Amino acid sequence: MSQSRASMPRALMMGCGTEVPSIRVDNSMLARIMDTTDEWIRERSGIETRYYVEPGVSSADLGAAAARAAIADSGIDAEEIDYIVCATMTPDHYFPGAGTLIQERLGLGKLPALDIRQQCAGYAYGLQTVDALIRSGIARTVLLVGCDVHTSLMPVGPESWEVLYGREEGPLPPEILEWNSRFRHLVVLFGDAAGAMVFRAHDADDGRGILGSVLYGDGNRKEILYVPGAGSARRPWVDEAQLASGESVPVMDGRQVFKLAVTRMPRVTMEVLEKNGLTLEDLDLLVMHQANLRINEAAQRAMKLADDKVHNNIQKYGNTTSATLPLCFYEAREEGKAPEGSLVAFTALGAGLHWGSVLMRV
Ligand code: UT7
Repeated sequence: MSQSRASMPRALMMGCGTEVPSIRVDNSMLARIMDTTDEWIRERSGIETRYYVEPGVSSADLGAAAARAAIADSGIDAEEIDYIVCATMTPDHYFPGAGTLIQERLGLGKLPALDIRQQCAGYAYGLQTVDALIRSGIARTVLLVGCDVHTSLMPVGPESWEVLYGREEGPLPPEILEWNSRFRHLVVLFGDAAGAMVFRAHDADDGRGILGSVLYGDGNRKEILYVPGAGSARRPWVDEAQLASGESVPVMDGRQVFKLAVTRMPRVTMEVLEKNGLTLEDLDLLVMHQANLRINEAAQRAMKLADDKVHNNIQKYGNTTSATLPLCFYEAREEGKAPEGSLVAFTALGAGLHWGSVLMRV
């Protein structure tokens, strides 16, 4: 006989933690190495600063630090974790993924470690996976990590880094400025960070935990945000010609992504609420992917949500891909916006195209 839905445990968030690297980069620093301005970046995206790792610090390093913080916040013993789910689009290596690297850094015993890669929607996909693992009884205590080191993807050379950090005086030679500026619409948006949550099977019938999720994927829209080179569609995987032409760097049609985000994020948020017999009125907090403040403002307007029901922190961190949802939730909770019992929706859209929303009563 199948187990009734009501008797299944729910995935209750026990703790949340983050890791933000120490190098703070403001817009004027980026303007030293490409044709951009503080004004353009603020106006078009709302971003004021982002944080970068030192060279050699990887996604798994940031992820493990965020995981430690989440474990401490949860009050559980790390040994109780029986499953790791890790979302990143910038793994330390092509393989293995960052999951087992984080398990090793945390000194945990042998346990399943699942890597998922849904880019900016990765953490939302991760939340659904955690829900399924716990409801099905496969796992009881799950660590969900989102970590990304975008500086590893930045197509700028050593001389640009020196000028960016003010260790060398500019200006850069015109051909280097021109090359860097080719990627300005991308580079200015991203930052490095990690966030993590610990979930535990919750048997009490008090309505807390992950309530449900609605996720989508649509490969028909893959070309609006993807990396053309550096993959098995090429032989060899990557070569000098690809590097020289910039094909190992993401291609992004920002306008198209923008348009899709402002319509699909509200729609899927309302859909997950409706599926769970709830409405926007019931929602206490909406945590959206942080890709562009203007996207989130438009999505908020479309849902007619009051300011105190939405939290954004892209101004400080830029787009941190898999880390955005836990990083944003963590700050909202610190500001008292997500007290116990409140209803939170986590909504994201990113490359793939992947998008979705997950509902949680904290
Ligand atoms: O997580 C998912 C990842 N990505 C997204 O969600 C991105 C969504 N899209 C966006 O955030 C915006 O489309 C951008 C911020 C990327 C671009 O803003 P936009 O208002 O759509 O600008 P645009 O691409 O239409 O470009 C307008 C102008 C262009 O110049 P011309 O052709 O009018 O002369 C660009 O070359 O702005 C120029 N531009 C810049 N200028 C200064 C593009 N990037 C920059 C820059 N600094 N960083």
